[in-house]
Amino acid sequence: MTPILSVENLGHTFPGPAGWFGARKRFRAVGEVDFELHPGEILGVVGESGCGKSTLARLIMRLYEPTDGTIRFEGTDITHLSRRALQPLRRRFQMVFQDPYSSIDPRQTIAEALTEPFEVQGVGLSAAARRAEIERLLALVALDPAMAGSHPHHLSGGQKQRVGIARALALGPRLIAFDEPTASLDVSVQAQVVELLLRLRRELDLTYLFISHDLALVDYLCDRVMVMYLGRVVEILPRGAPPRHPYTQALLAAAFAPDPKVRRHIVRITGEIPSGYDVPTGCAFAARCPLVEDTCRAIRPALVGDGHHAVACHLAPPIASES
Ligand SMILES: Nc1ncnc2c1ncn2[C@@H]1O[C@H](COP(=O)(O)OP(=O)(O)OP(=O)(O)O)[C@@H](O)[C@H]1O
Ligand SMILES: [Mg+2]
Repeated sequence: MTPILSVENLGHTFPGPAGWFGARKRFRAVGEVDFELHPGEILGVVGESGCGKSTLARLIMRLYEPTDGTIRFEGTDITHLSRRALQPLRRRFQMVFQDPYSSIDPRQTIAEALTEPFEVQGVGLSAAARRAEIERLLALVALDPAMAGSHPHHLSGGQKQRVGIARALALGPRLIAFDEPTASLDVSVQAQVVELLLRLRRELDLTYLFISHDLALVDYLCDRVMVMYLGRVVEILPRGAPPRHPYTQALLAAAFAPDPKVRRHIVRITGEIPSGYDVPTGCAFAARCPLVEDTCRAIRPALVGDGHHAVACHLAPPIASES
């Protein structure tokens, strides 16, 4: 089966501030990312703030121009497609952001917000077809059809996020990337949105990339989880699989620790934390890893695995021994 998305050696650097002699150091936000996303799958993306989750999603959505690597969407290389060549494919991959305010113009009515994607794509709709689309989209996300005439400020946070999701659904996407879609919502509302996402995936045969800080939520929702550290993927593991990378182990232990003091200290910090300006030669996690050996500082471990579970660590037991 062709993967929905296949990403090879994907990387991105941002220009840093101009240097004294005009030399601009570049900041590496994402590097050497490899993974495949299969039809119907939900892949979670986790890692500490600044590790490159949003940058990765924006690269895949072609909102940022990749500096290295390849992105294939349903088998087509989209890495450097021009805006024009990308236009017909755009409707098939969409992104939903944390803050629905940023994607909905406060002056627009909900009906206008929902039909804007058709206008952007140059899809002409008759008045009747327009009404039917608005009704269909509101029903999909379980919003009252009477809301069509409202403005965003009349809606609650959860309702606004439903409108954001409906907009992403307008053109019949295959893949949706969610960047912390429930992070600004109350816990009970969050749970409803998560159930909505599961129902939509089932009914519309969707595939998700799901970024979140909430490891319990990711564990509930996602089939596999990709763990990032300093712009690199350190491990991709199926739900419920025992983590093999020391960073994943520390992240999970900290997230599920009952003591909040433990939660704040992800791992013992033994050295300088490297930054994207100065990416270490070896393993990105070496400076913080409790198990570090000389090899780890010298040679960057490749991500190796069996297509389901993969880990980038010289010291992790090989995946093949997992039964
Ligand atoms: N437009 C930009 N210009 C320069 N640097 C950027 C830009 N966007 C992000 N960065 C840097 O790239 C790194 C990765 O940022 P990114 O937003 O992808 O992280 P993140 O994992 O999504 O973090 P968070 O969990 O806080 O949302 C960070 O160090 C960030 O400061
Ligand atoms: Mg982010």
